[in-house]
Amino acid sequence: TRVLVLNGPNLGRLGSREPDVYGSTTFAGLVERCHKTAAELGLDADVRQTDDEAELVHWLHEAADAGTPVVLNPAAFTHYSYALRDACAQLGAPLIEVHISNPAAREEFRHTSVVAGVATGTVAGFGLGSYDLALRAVAGLV
Ligand code: DQA
Repeated sequence: TRVLVLNGPNLGRLGSREPDVYGSTTFAGLVERCHKTAAELGLDADVRQTDDEAELVHWLHEAADAGTPVVLNPAAFTHYSYALRDACAQLGAPLIEVHISNPAAREEFRHTSVVAGVATGTVAGFGLGSYDLALRAVAGLV
């Protein structure tokens, strides 16, 4: 089964971006880890990142049309993008929201997710391990 692993703004800078919060693994490292975990679960992961809200929305349309399950780290869009939420609401297959950090334990503005209400479920706070758990959730649902 194919799964789209979509990542929003600033996640391309993993490794150098606030390593105390997000760790020292690069985005390329995350891609490799997702490919490996997915393969172990019998999934085929297509891992992408964009800083562009429109591009992310279009990738979600693609997933909606193809019936593809999605693992999504919406990054800062989590907290305010109704366009992203409306795109997520069109998905038929499972949608797992992931976060590297635990937004509930951080600044007040990170406590709201406009995506959570249209996701199948959310995994947050386990570092890059959040992606492993999200892929495991997908494997159990499809
Ligand atoms: C994040 C948490 C968001 O609040 C933040 O804007 C990000 C990353 C996470 O993975 O912990 O960019 O989604």
